[in-house]
Amino acid sequence: MMKTYKVAVIPGDGIGPEVLAEGIKVLKEVAKLDGTFSFDFVTFPWGCEYYLKHGKMMDDAGMECLQEFDAIYLGAVGYPGVPDHISLWDLLLRIRKGFDQYINLRPIQLLKGAPCPLNGVQPGQIDMLVVRENSEGEYAGAGDWLFKGKPEEVVLQTGVFSRKGTERVIRYAYELARKTGKTLTSISKANALNYSMVFWDQVFVEVSKEYPDVKTYSYLVDAASMFFVKDPGRFQIVVTSNLFGDILTDLGAAITGGMGLAAGANLNPERKYPSMFEPIHGSAPDIAGKAIANPIASIWSVSQMLDFFGQEEWGKIVLTAIEQVLVKNECLTPDLDGKAKTNEVGDAVVSAICAMK
Ligand code: NAI
Ligand code: MG
Repeated sequence: MMKTYKVAVIPGDGIGPEVLAEGIKVLKEVAKLDGTFSFDFVTFPWGCEYYLKHGKMMDDAGMECLQEFDAIYLGAVGYPGVPDHISLWDLLLRIRKGFDQYINLRPIQLLKGAPCPLNGVQPGQIDMLVVRENSEGEYAGAGDWLFKGKPEEVVLQTGVFSRKGTERVIRYAYELARKTGKTLTSISKANALNYSMVFWDQVFVEVSKEYPDVKTYSYLVDAASMFFVKDPGRFQIVVTSNLFGDILTDLGAAITGGMGLAAGANLNPERKYPSMFEPIHGSAPDIAGKAIANPIASIWSVSQMLDFFGQEEWGKIVLTAIEQVLVKNECLTPDLDGKAKTNEVGDAVVSAICAMK
């Protein structure tokens, strides 16, 4: 019987719609070549332009609506004129939190043909998978703003690290390390953050008892940032908190070819709710509407989606196709020093996929 994956598409703002179109093109081609599954795409017009018209980032019944889908494919949100904390909290974070997508999985992998700003680093020498806590921590939204505008003004931003939340992300990373036979590195900051990160480190050691087969390392986040640049090869599976993961994965993107190549998956591993797949870049207002946005990050995120659906073979084919397009170096967007248009890169990836099958 034909399996149909229901995918909610939220193109969002700026280059979001431009790059998602190419990911959808790839998914359609994959389904056609495979023949045993298909995709049912439903597009939702939510984002900042929607906000400017309706006073909200998404429909009131938006979450109930999305609940019905197997996955969400998100472009980017953000638009000059709409404060970033509104666009982020009322759409992206609402989905991440509401659907308990507590794992943010970000591959930091230097593909062949991708530009690397580090001297002497070869493809294959950067190959990590960052597991970022995605539901609480420094981004829990807890705090207070007292005496606003007065001389005694005080703001508090509280990190929230629950035992459940900390344990589950760490355990997920151990499982991944065991499954792949890779090392696991925890990145924290217990010397300065004397409650949250001492607790984090403690949980990391506690859970390690269940995984004696996994080789572990523990780094302070400042030292880890240095090693991301000086010796990225020492990291394989990495687990870290929400804020540290946010920053480290942008650094990771920078050392593996830039924002145009960086993808991320927001997973609810129990599959009680839909998971969300997205390029990690924003809406790039500076290049929006010019058809020159790099769609590779967006295509990489459909490779992650295929993996999540259990179609790992296809996930790998899509990633290999991306790599071939990079190596060929004939059809790349201006951020990679090429002259190609967004849709031409999508077409090139599709051709590479077809040539493999
Ligand atoms: P950005 O990622 O949109 O752009 C940063 C720089 O990278 C720009 O020069 C842009 O042209 C370039 N760039 C990004 N993606 C690219 C691509 N696919 N191809 C070629 N070049 C690319 O980050 P920025 O400028 O800080 O934010 C712009 C807006 O996006 C803001 O409103 C921000 O809040 C929002 N944003 C949304 C995110 C999301 O929806 N997940 C993530 C980050 C930012
Ligand atoms: Mg970020």
